[in-house]
Amino acid sequence: MFWESQVVHAGVCTDPVTGAISTPIYQTSTFRHPALGQSTGFDYSRSHNPTRQAVEQTIANLERGAAGFAFASGLAAITSVLMLFRAGDHFVISEDCYGGTYRLLDKVFRQFGLEATFVDSSSNEKIAAAILPNTRALFVETPTNPLMKIVDLRKLVGLARMNNLFTIVDNTFLTPYLQRPLELGVDVVLHSGSKYLSGHNDVICGLAVARERELGERIGFIQNASGNILGPQDSWLLLRGMKTLALRMDRHGSNARKVSGWLQEHPKVEKVYYPIFFQVVFVQTGQIGKGSLSFSSVIISKQLVH
Ligand SMILES: Cc1ncc(COP(=O)(O)O)c(C=O)c1O
Repeated sequence: MFWESQVVHAGVCTDPVTGAISTPIYQTSTFRHPALGQSTGFDYSRSHNPTRQAVEQTIANLERGAAGFAFASGLAAITSVLMLFRAGDHFVISEDCYGGTYRLLDKVFRQFGLEATFVDSSSNEKIAAAILPNTRALFVETPTNPLMKIVDLRKLVGLARMNNLFTIVDNTFLTPYLQRPLELGVDVVLHSGSKYLSGHNDVICGLAVARERELGERIGFIQNASGNILGPQDSWLLLRGMKTLALRMDRHGSNARKVSGWLQEHPKVEKVYYPIFFQVVFVQTGQIGKGSLSFSSVIISKQLVH
């Protein structure tokens, strides 16, 4: 089945009780076992919930990973993946990553002994130069938010393998429609699902996908142990939003192409960040105070993966 057809089928099932083809919202904390020693596979919604499971299976499938997990926000997903590490571990991370990711590492995880060096991740050489004896992972956004810098993921994976390091990629902006880092050998993909994946500005959510089952089991353990989960209602909204991802990304792209052309000609615009292959626009105006406006979109990067 084509990727576009798979995404349209997000959450499409046949409910064994009613025959419903849209995964129902299982708004329940607890599940009754049919009899002593028997189980439906569900007991308590912190551990597993059928609506959340549908979204987790969908994102694992779309990213071509072994296991997916849905969290209360993008930052919650990042938090859970950072919990794989321990005091004294060091990360090399994109210097212009999302501000909340910077804050999480700098103001929260630093207190627990995680160290981070922020570098220009568009340069594999700069990443390599920042690797220390206690470095455990390379963590990048591509494109970065907000400066839209691009990371060569094949080179990143090569560098990580040479140094025995994990690779973590925040794929929020391109989504698996346009970029599938796990297919390039990356270990974990993260998302703020609050953006393109859900697509309707009505849900805050996050996702993580592990390339290999064993790593997925460790993330699943952290998710259950820390209670960092997406509720059934929001899981359903995310599923519904994802069905139209391919159509929306194509339209975002053609819009961005037009808007970036218009902005490039505009007398009050100083610089337009628009990496042509990724069709993402970041605008910095020349007005007093350097007000900035950023928005992102995608046009032709299908060529990268299709
Ligand atoms: C690239 C990126 N990663 C992570 C996040 C955090 O996601 P959330 O707001 O869902 O916690 C954001 C939010 O804007 C983002 O842009």
